[in-house]
Amino acid sequence: MQDSWGRNIDYLRISVTDRCSLRCCYCMPPEGVPLTCHEDILRFEEIVRIVTVLARMGLKTVRLTGGEPLVRRDIGRLAAALKAVPGIETVALTTNGLRLGELAADLVKAGLDEVNVSLDTLDPETFRIITGSDGLDQVLESIRVCRRAGLPVRLNCVPVSCGSGRDRDLADIAAIARDQDIAVRFIEMMPIGPGADLASYRQDQLMDLLQRRFGPARPSASHPGKGPAVYYEFAGFKSLVGFISPLSHCFCDSCSRIRLSAAGVLQPCLAYEDGVDLKSCLLEGGGRALEQALEKALSAKPRRHDFQDRGAAGRPADRRSMSGIGG
Ligand code: 5AD
Ligand code: SF4
Repeated sequence: MQDSWGRNIDYLRISVTDRCSLRCCYCMPPEGVPLTCHEDILRFEEIVRIVTVLARMGLKTVRLTGGEPLVRRDIGRLAAALKAVPGIETVALTTNGLRLGELAADLVKAGLDEVNVSLDTLDPETFRIITGSDGLDQVLESIRVCRRAGLPVRLNCVPVSCGSGRDRDLADIAAIARDQDIAVRFIEMMPIGPGADLASYRQDQLMDLLQRRFGPARPSASHPGKGPAVYYEFAGFKSLVGFISPLSHCFCDSCSRIRLSAAGVLQPCLAYEDGVDLKSCLLEGGGRALEQALEKALSAKPRRHDFQDRGAAGRPADRRSMSGIGG
């Protein structure tokens, strides 16, 4: 699958639900977001059907996201079914980690290849400020359970500027990559949903504070995973520290992904609302309608995001929530 800018597209992120068990400040406004009604959320068979058609056209990797994908009851069965689709090589999951400990064994059995866990802080009070919940210990326990189950884990940290002692807290998160075989990635805040009004650390600020604590870093030649992260090695670290910085280090030129929203809209780019409604293609019945919809989405894939033009001067900030798009 090639888009009109010559990029090879072989990675689909699927938001399997827009529900979430947390209320992260950069994702869900306190008053909540309008939810897709249950009947409109893609069903198990619909997701498998869509992935089957896309895999025939070149899709290789799917990542299950949300909302929180583990609130969906059929998630293990879905991972197994997607893993069995001819052409699909990798099935991955991005989760807030709350229910992961409980489900890890089933997910390994289902054939899940890897999991990204969100971990924005190691401080219980800051965790409460960011997520609105007391679940930090549960997330940390989930990470331990995955390690014992042999499921590869990476950590995603959105370095929101909040809470106290944040420099030290963020460096402590990076130290997980020093002590364990777990890559840690820092994700720059994107101006989507409430994230538009929040500040986060920038890559250069983080790099400064990490190098002060851990010594000089050098760019890594190896690259775990297929995403847009750029990785660095610190001396004495068991794993890598990565940065996903769409604003300060735009990676759109090497973008390989498209997205399927919980409501079944195939979105060529995270940054724009435009998409093709696959749910109606499924109702029309067929593989050919799906293929045409996919071709339409690929040809409409923008060259890059417009995050830098948002806010005060440019286009209004994006009022969608990441919970329906899937990150
Ligand atoms: N900016 C950056 N990352 C975000 N995520 C959710 N909202 C935003 C935002 N506005 C992250 C979550 C999770 C992933 C799915 O997306 O923290 O790691
Ligand atoms: Fe790809 Fe759009 Fe994300 Fe850029 S902003 S990396 S083009 S999905």
